[in-house]
Amino acid sequence: MKKEAGKRIKITGTGIYVPDKILTNADLEKMVDTSDEWIISRTGIKERRVASEDQATSDLAIEAGREALNSAGLKAKDIDLIIVGTSTPDTIFPSTGCWVQKGLGAGNVPAFDISAGCTGFLYGMILAEGLILSGAHKRILLIGGELLTKITNWEDRNTCVLFGDGAGAVVLEESDDESGMLSSYWKADGNLGELLYQPAGGSRIPATDQSVAQRLHYLHMKGNEVFKHAVKKMGEAAVEALKSAGLKKEDVDYLIPHQANMRIIEATGRRLKLPREKVFSNIHKYGNVSVASIPISIHELNEEGKLNKGNIVLMVAFGAGFTWAAVAYRW
Ligand code: UT7
Repeated sequence: MKKEAGKRIKITGTGIYVPDKILTNADLEKMVDTSDEWIISRTGIKERRVASEDQATSDLAIEAGREALNSAGLKAKDIDLIIVGTSTPDTIFPSTGCWVQKGLGAGNVPAFDISAGCTGFLYGMILAEGLILSGAHKRILLIGGELLTKITNWEDRNTCVLFGDGAGAVVLEESDDESGMLSSYWKADGNLGELLYQPAGGSRIPATDQSVAQRLHYLHMKGNEVFKHAVKKMGEAAVEALKSAGLKKEDVDYLIPHQANMRIIEATGRRLKLPREKVFSNIHKYGNVSVASIPISIHELNEEGKLNKGNIVLMVAFGAGFTWAAVAYRW
């Protein structure tokens, strides 16, 4: 989707929250048959954050949301819509968005979740753009919050080394200058859903003693299959979003790929022929935090002082569904 010139939304505040507890590869070596060397060479991950037992996704999301509001110079009451992307909601219902609304004291503004796996943050940006540019909403708090360690099977070395917990948030408003969202591209393929999913806990397989005994409430993933699709689709989304923005590969100042695996991040950078320094990564310290990975990355890139006005940032993600999307953005 290409935007009309002059009419776009922009990020006016960012915030993140990651739990204090760090789980290193050395810790994982004591839990399953794995090694620091395997994890680093196959994924790029060195450590990840793990929430405490009493924390739920909204606790992380509220902290990130509060920081984003502060950085935008706003109070919770100034927001007129809350969207939370998550695959690990506090409860199936009410939505995590509603728990966040309560926690922030945001008043009776509408609040809901979107479920698009790791692509949820970009799906949220595209949705927010429509809602703001239509005039329906002015200030949207979009949060990606994930507490994957609570649906991780700590006996499965194929998955338990990959994931972590965290939240990232942005405030979105109509842009008053040239900066903001330039174009977007979003897709899904429900035929491949079972390559990455949580089989039980919904209406297909409700919770029973048997579903728990069979460990069906944990995240299940055919990693190498997902890997191939992720590389292909993230490349496709990146190229298509650039094309609709009328930009060339060499116009990109920073690529912010979803942080699933260092090899996927590098492959996406290579597809765009970008030098390594233009490809952002923080996977070494957080692992895969799913929907939180892009908003955390935007915040960190900005905090590191690397983003200058006018910079072109390309965000691209792939996740459960399958879903994949990209957003081209002028900082
Ligand atoms: O966030 C959205 C989507 N998620 C992704 O995009 C994740 C995509 N997938 C991946 O990142 C990678 O496929 C993994 C990191 C999950 C796995 O890497 P891989 O290079 O695809 O390895 P593999 O699954 O093909 O396994 C290779 C070998 C196997 O042993 P054999 O059969 O060759 O003897 C695995 O059993 O590595 C073994 N293995 C491990 N060894 C040590 C799997 N996990 C581990 C482990 N430690 N933790």
